[in-house]
Amino acid sequence: MSALAEKHKAINLSQGFPDFPVDPKLIDCVVKAMREGFNQYAPMPGWQPLREKLSVKHHSDYAVRYNPETEITITPGATQALQSVFASTIRPNDEVVLFAPAYDSYAPMIKACGGKIVWVELSPSDFSVPHQKLTEAVSSKTRLIVLNNPHNPSGAVWKKEDVLLLEALQQKFGFFVLADEVYEKICFLPKGFESLTKSEILRPSLFLVYSFGKTFHATGWKLGYVLAPENLMKELRSYFQYAVFSVNTPMQKGIADYLDSVDLNEVAKMYMEKQQFFENEMKKTKLRPLPTYGSYFQLYDYSEIRNDIGDVEMAEWLTISAGVATIPVSVFYPNPPTHMRYLRFCFAKKNENLSRAALALAEL
Ligand SMILES: Cc1ncc(COP(=O)(O)O)c(C=O)c1O
Repeated sequence: MSALAEKHKAINLSQGFPDFPVDPKLIDCVVKAMREGFNQYAPMPGWQPLREKLSVKHHSDYAVRYNPETEITITPGATQALQSVFASTIRPNDEVVLFAPAYDSYAPMIKACGGKIVWVELSPSDFSVPHQKLTEAVSSKTRLIVLNNPHNPSGAVWKKEDVLLLEALQQKFGFFVLADEVYEKICFLPKGFESLTKSEILRPSLFLVYSFGKTFHATGWKLGYVLAPENLMKELRSYFQYAVFSVNTPMQKGIADYLDSVDLNEVAKMYMEKQQFFENEMKKTKLRPLPTYGSYFQLYDYSEIRNDIGDVEMAEWLTISAGVATIPVSVFYPNPPTHMRYLRFCFAKKNENLSRAALALAEL
């Protein structure tokens, strides 16, 4: 969709990357680190002061302590953290439960490790966790359950009762859990989202994945990290040591220094303003919003404009005829539900671009 947007000079609200600059203070910290000579290999698990600061950050956010020596590893983006979790947990023919719609990297990486995917479709009306379907999908063959919270593409979040169900199932069947929480700092609920880290029952089997790219709106830096209890992290690192070894040093040093001066709660405020601004601008159009509680995405129902075409065709048509690029939600499904009439909009864009997009869509 980004390529099509480029070709038609459309406003690109499709791919999930911000179009506004990274904080110049963060750039200064990285440049300073390079100038000061932090340009050689970092230790395998990551730059030690960064791991220490992440341990403090996690504790202050969730009151859970991870040991920076043994339980935190810095990775080249959240994507590689996910890949390391898959490579170190899945054996051929293990079953892995995935929720659809799903972030597009999960399934190919799981298949490459020999895993067999058992899909659970989120409820199509509000993308909540379907308790019955989840219970039916899990068995003693389940090796790993992967969840993304807050959720891309829907902006849905896990509820307390969903976590309780997962805890009960985990205690019965003993699988691992991978919580992809890359949008942890982009949540619009006053009390924040229900991070799985808070579950004492799940924690011994839990991998948590985060992304600096998302939090610092620097997606091109591809830097993230993974948290896990020591025994699981040992396994993960035994793979990571040879698949990656270590992540670029000056960015790790720069981020570690930057974390001293930044209030990460400002990130949610900034995105909440953008989300409200965009939703307000979109009132001029015939696209109807679904609620979003987190991430920098929101789904819109386009059926009042055209109910006769599927979402892929609609996304192409909007790019070409209205000059606004979006992502069809069906591409996040292995077998998309028929009659899905949702498009995903990324509102991590300058307000002027959000306004221009809404104005163009209002013509339809
Ligand atoms: C749910 C989810 N997980 C992981 C990633 C990848 O993060 P990174 O760019 O840090 O690899 C993304 C990026 O879009 C995402 O939406």
